[in-house]
Amino acid sequence: MTARVEAIDPDQASRLYEQDQTHWLHPQGDLNATPGSMPKLLFASGDGTTLTDIEGRTYIDGLASLWNVNVGHGRRELAEVAAEQMGRLAFSSAYGGFGHAPGAELAARLAELAPGDLDATFFASGGAEANDTAYKLARFYWHLRGEPSRINIVSRIRDYHGLTWAATSATGLAMFRKDFGPLAPGFLHGPSPDPYRFEPGPDGRSAGEVYATALEAVILEAGPETVAAVVAEPVQGAGGVIIPPDDYFPRVRRMCDQHGILLIADEVITGFGRTGRWFGLEHWQVQPDLMIFAKGVTSGYLPLSGVMFTRQIFDVLKTYKGVLPHGFTYSGHPTACAVALRNLEIIERENLVERSAEMGIVLGKRLAGLRKHAIVGDARNLGLIGALELVQDRATKTSYEPSLGVGGRVMRAALADGLIVRALGGDIVALSPPLVITEPEIDRAAEILDRALERTARELEQSS
Ligand SMILES: Cc1ncc(COP(=O)(O)O)c(C=O)c1O
Repeated sequence: MTARVEAIDPDQASRLYEQDQTHWLHPQGDLNATPGSMPKLLFASGDGTTLTDIEGRTYIDGLASLWNVNVGHGRRELAEVAAEQMGRLAFSSAYGGFGHAPGAELAARLAELAPGDLDATFFASGGAEANDTAYKLARFYWHLRGEPSRINIVSRIRDYHGLTWAATSATGLAMFRKDFGPLAPGFLHGPSPDPYRFEPGPDGRSAGEVYATALEAVILEAGPETVAAVVAEPVQGAGGVIIPPDDYFPRVRRMCDQHGILLIADEVITGFGRTGRWFGLEHWQVQPDLMIFAKGVTSGYLPLSGVMFTRQIFDVLKTYKGVLPHGFTYSGHPTACAVALRNLEIIERENLVERSAEMGIVLGKRLAGLRKHAIVGDARNLGLIGALELVQDRATKTSYEPSLGVGGRVMRAALADGLIVRALGGDIVALSPPLVITEPEIDRAAEILDRALERTARELEQSS
């Protein structure tokens, strides 16, 4: 059972549940959840890796909420910086020639932190907005370069880029696309890497070569001269925590160079220490032309996102005669920028990137230990993003019938025991805790998963 701390009175709790269910259409909420099939949970407070709900139950936040609360919950320092900035200048325009100190300082700080020559930033609020911006900037860039036929944006199956219209069009997960057609034109999808299921062929080609070549085939079929950019998550998050083979991104980079195509890294999850490096592509020494960030830049304390790009791209954008025909009211919200600056300071001061790499080793060992359950086909992680892939048959790697909802069963059993994880399609159970997680907390999370897997395996056996 989960621990209980200061609960609100039961009448108030019932009222809140009622208001929630009657009036709030939740993002990615289950629209016809039967009682008990989905957790009924309203959170009240957070501290470090722990969340507390309105009834006083505590949970290990094994997903850093939405892969984003990198510095952990309850940082008063961030609340104080926000209050101070709001008291001085809560908001002002960044349009035209206007701006403010937090925006200028944050753009400069990001230029120092980002790999290679990513040198300038366009700010937005959420990851999807930043994705739309990156696609528009890529097309705009080619217009200005005199190659307006370069319009296609190539992503991969299992990529998740957000749910605005263009980001949905780039996303490669069927459930987010099927009821919203027609989607935006000019979006193509290559296959996803799947190292767990890769079987080397007689030609001895590596997994990275096979998957990069398959991506190139999509580009060749469309005609490279029609392709503006490839956009890719360094580690596919919502699509299943897919960690690519080591030679995959270097090959994708070379392929983009050969065809003169821009490479956009979507580092919305993988940025700011999540994988044990500041940014995910650094694992493979690959430099993107544009880099999308969000989530961890403020650790979720306020919404902020953006697109970084190289000096060369900035110089081309500056050849446009007129004002940049793109922008949002909240492009560079001063309070969000001030919080981001302090959040980055905390990540540095507390060595959270190094810590993510160290705790990632611990997480990897604990996940590997869970392979003792026959239903765990694969256990994988890169720093503090990891997953268990559950299969019906380990030898053949055959997945369970989706209607059995095996990942969901593990997720609910873990939740009842005080651990929040996320069940992704394909019965993949994802973890991505705050970077401040301790070794005892990782141990506790692994023990809870151990019990949840045991219980799920037993249930499946009984029902078969
Ligand atoms: C890789 C990636 N890109 C983009 C997004 C979209 O971000 P947002 O939900 O802030 O629009 C997400 C959200 O999870 C993501 O994981």
